[in-house]
Amino acid sequence: MKNKFLILLGVILLAGYLNLSARTAVFSLINDMFNQISLKPQEPGSMTTFPIGTVSVDGRVYGDPADRFSWLVPEMNIRSATPNPFKPDPESLANGKLKYNTYCQVCHSDSDLINAAGFAATKINDLGMIAPAVITLTPDFTDGYIYHKVKHGGAVMPTLGYATTDRDRWDIINYIRTLEKRDE
Ligand code: HEC
Repeated sequence: MKNKFLILLGVILLAGYLNLSARTAVFSLINDMFNQISLKPQEPGSMTTFPIGTVSVDGRVYGDPADRFSWLVPEMNIRSATPNPFKPDPESLANGKLKYNTYCQVCHSDSDLINAAGFAATKINDLGMIAPAVITLTPDFTDGYIYHKVKHGGAVMPTLGYATTDRDRWDIINYIRTLEKRDE
């Protein structure tokens, strides 16, 4: 009886030892979540370059990290830019205003006023953020360009694709177009 117990104990200890010393053990007692697609500490990568297939907390799916800005070129040209599928009706403008005030105004304000450093006259810019008074720039941008800028963010601007829906982004653009006119 005692021998059987010792043999069993030995087998369990050996199994545990194999599992801990080599993750290729024939069977595994501990199935942790270590080996999945993610950037592990001390692995090569940076704040902007992640392993292919990684999904970041902001919802960006990295197909090809080098390809993050490929949308820029077609969206800069009025002939190839994605058209806004939503009319600027009251419903669109109301949602656009709500979402603009929620996600954009804090940095960009909704007027063309600038602070001493030349950025939009907002509290966050006085504290060191560098967001332009965006409605002075948007008249030169296509709807598709602004749409993707919001979705993907920029070098400094955060990615807001996870916070806004497809519809929200187009509605924000419809609202921005009314702000541009107001400031003429
Ligand atoms: C945390 C601050 C911040 C927020 C919030 C923010 N932006 Fe920006 N945005 C910036 C900064 C900084 C820049 C300039 C640098 C850059 O492009 O990253 C910028 C640039 C832009 C540009 C100019 C792009 C260009 O190529 O010159 C547009 C258009 C824009 N933002 C639209 C928006 C809209 C619409 C929202 C809301 C959905 C928004 N931003 C929210 C900080 C912000």
